[in-house]
Amino acid sequence: MDCFRIEGPTRLAGRVRINGSKNASLPLMAAALLTDDPLILRDVPDLRDIRNMASLLEELGCSTSREEDGSLHLHVTDPSQSHARYDIVKTMRASICALGPLLAKRGYARISMPGGCAIGDRPIDLHLRGMRALGAEIKLVGGDVVATAPRLVGTTIFLGGPFGSTVLGTANVLSAAVLAQGVTVIESAACEPEIVDLASALTAMGAKIQGAGTPRITVEGVESLSGADHRVMPDRIEAGTYMIAAAITRGDLELENCPYDSLLAVTDRLEVAGIDIALTDESSDRNRAVVRVRAEQRAKPIRLTTQPFPGYPTDLQAQMMALLTLADGNSVVTEKVFPERFLHVPELSRMGAQLFRQGATVVVPGVERLVGAPVMASDLRASASLVLAGMAAEGRTVVQRIYHLDRGYERMEERLCPLGAQIERVDDATLEG
Ligand code: EPU
Repeated sequence: MDCFRIEGPTRLAGRVRINGSKNASLPLMAAALLTDDPLILRDVPDLRDIRNMASLLEELGCSTSREEDGSLHLHVTDPSQSHARYDIVKTMRASICALGPLLAKRGYARISMPGGCAIGDRPIDLHLRGMRALGAEIKLVGGDVVATAPRLVGTTIFLGGPFGSTVLGTANVLSAAVLAQGVTVIESAACEPEIVDLASALTAMGAKIQGAGTPRITVEGVESLSGADHRVMPDRIEAGTYMIAAAITRGDLELENCPYDSLLAVTDRLEVAGIDIALTDESSDRNRAVVRVRAEQRAKPIRLTTQPFPGYPTDLQAQMMALLTLADGNSVVTEKVFPERFLHVPELSRMGAQLFRQGATVVVPGVERLVGAPVMASDLRASASLVLAGMAAEGRTVVQRIYHLDRGYERMEERLCPLGAQIERVDDATLEG
């Protein structure tokens, strides 16, 4: 199994291009099931989760191919198979994205129920509530959700849950409503930029959608959708991770293709922590901007609460916590989206961080230095936080189970090393002692 061997401390400097968004790509890929025509997606990152979604689509009769220019071509050739089996769903929860498109286009979907995962329970009750409201009959058969509806019918659906809106739940209901009969209103819809990106691709396919990016989305169902050629938005979580990487190494990075306006809650917190962030060209597209991130001093402590968009994203909580372990004072981090998402806490502590957790809050009295140690990646974003901590720590850090990181970051070591990091990917069987 691969691990990262990181030597620190290092300082990052230079330019890095942000890839297309993983979390936008997954529901966009599932949208290929909504049409008989080809769907072309550009800037889809080459990641394990994306390959898993492609395998799932193949099983559902949708051919997938990556062309030389990097674009992903998706085309349904055999609509007879509508069963997403456990073997694939267990590798990737986002398989649930196929539910809405299958139901809307084929009138039938059978999707293995996703289990819990390292960051919490992750129920799908809101997805199912949405499909039922659109008229689907839903049963649980042998661990699979079996949904049927000869034709979905539009209605008003409240999609809020105990932790606020749901991103993939909104994507699923939106993708189903585009082919429903009549008008659907989704109230308490997720406002994440990935939903706006999905709505813009669906609109290019012929859907009639208003209000994407606000808590109320209105969809007027159409009879059929065509194909489209869509460029995926840049990955705001990858961009935020590299911003924090610049900050924790007291470096100087320029991020190209950076979705600046989707990261305002993050740049706000970084600026309060004393990090210098600037658009290099104010007149450029603010969602594909060049952004310079510089840190000359030790970070100042901050208070941070994760929230659905436009609040601070849960997917950047672990990385920011790595930075705060080295801040000059006491920080407080509260997780309001996935209250159990703290698997990085014991691992950062192994590197000398001071972290005191009480429920969904962690108090972080900053220390002057972190010390390299063997640590274990346990989920995607926790792994990223350990890599950042490893680059700032003194000595050698070995991050095991790096396959979690590979689910969401394309060859992170190959992108960080030219910027000054010292990271080697090695097979952990070859490590001494
Ligand atoms: N929730 C429910 N019922 C549901 C669905 C969600 O109670 O039916 C709860 C969840 O348990 C959680 C909250 O609602 O407490 C928000 O979950 P959400 O549904 O928004 O999460 P998701 O759509 O399953 C996506 C991203 C996650 C990201 C969250 C929150 C993808 C593929 N995944 O998940 O990304 O953390 O939104 O922003 O888009 C990651 O990339 O590392 C990752 C985990």
